[in-house]
Amino acid sequence: MSVNHGANLYDLSKKYGFSKDEFLDFSSNINPFGASKLAKEYVINNIDQVSIYPDPNYINLKKSISDYCNCLEKNIILGSGATELISSFVKTINPSNALLLSPAYSEYEKELSKIECNIDKYYSRKENDFKIDIIDINELINNVNKNNYQLIIICNPSNPTGFTFTCSEIEMLLKNTSAFVMVDETYIEFTDSNKFSSTKLVDTYDNLFVIRGTSKFFSTPGIRLGYGLISNKKVQESINSNLDLWNINILASLMGEIMFKDNDFINNTVNVMTEQRTLLINELRKLDDLKVFDSQGNFILCEITSKSLTAKEVREKLIPHKIIIRDCASFDGLDEYFFRVCILKPEENQLLLDSLRNILK
Ligand SMILES: Cc1ncc(COP(=O)(O)O)c(C=O)c1O
Repeated sequence: MSVNHGANLYDLSKKYGFSKDEFLDFSSNINPFGASKLAKEYVINNIDQVSIYPDPNYINLKKSISDYCNCLEKNIILGSGATELISSFVKTINPSNALLLSPAYSEYEKELSKIECNIDKYYSRKENDFKIDIIDINELINNVNKNNYQLIIICNPSNPTGFTFTCSEIEMLLKNTSAFVMVDETYIEFTDSNKFSSTKLVDTYDNLFVIRGTSKFFSTPGIRLGYGLISNKKVQESINSNLDLWNINILASLMGEIMFKDNDFINNTVNVMTEQRTLLINELRKLDDLKVFDSQGNFILCEITSKSLTAKEVREKLIPHKIIIRDCASFDGLDEYFFRVCILKPEENQLLLDSLRNILK
């Protein structure tokens, strides 16, 4: 199966002869400090539960998510990662006409194409540093109403640009259109969630669907745990009726019961990642060849403005140093000179900077 996301460490380790753990993976946007210790210990201490079925109602897991997001338990839908929720929401709404804010994570387009939906794109532009201001939002609202889109998809923060709408900006959109708005908040916890997250709007607006995954912030892509928040009863029922019984395995369910309550993990992650993001952006900006875009996420979009090398060439030159970056040529709206790096541990970020300095000099 060919997928166009972060690195496939299985393929790369086979091709280059390094083990998977030797790579510094700056392409997958995963919190480098690993999962919550409390949650891991809980799983280890309860490992014998693999011999029973999970609770089909996931009561403890939903309670933990509801406390974490300050939302009603009945509005939570569980999924096997954000990926399953993107797919099931698109299938449930089954729009014939959708608007995709671009450049964007490729799974949205893939899912819309499967149902043969007409896809229009609203591009944030390089000339505006990929920012979408209040004038653009008004233009976006007019565009949605004029074209009768049934679904708008927003990645917030945007993967790959790092731009993030505030909660009030998303509310403007919800107030002024009747389209369903799907907001993928996979990276929201790396931002100031109070300002940027739309979860607090879920109980008020029944055209909003917020998707969250635990792969990135909680460093758990292996357990495949995601959740969606929606107050629209009809949509809830329809998605839930199509989900398989026990779609969340017991290890994911146990981890989820604990990690959302691990405030030390949550606060430390936000503090370190915010500090490292500022540092990495500032240091990358010292490289003459690069334009470095602002980001609220745990990743940074860069453009090789000198065009001395393409992103693909930079990526290939870094691999022998066991460093992997994301060549962004495949993102519609970007070109072969864009790449994305995520924030890893301080010493690893330093290695990336040293290697880029050597390659781009
Ligand atoms: C914006 C975005 N949404 C969803 C996903 C998939 O997340 P999950 O592992 O929760 O399925 C990714 C993975 O890279 C992503 O970047």
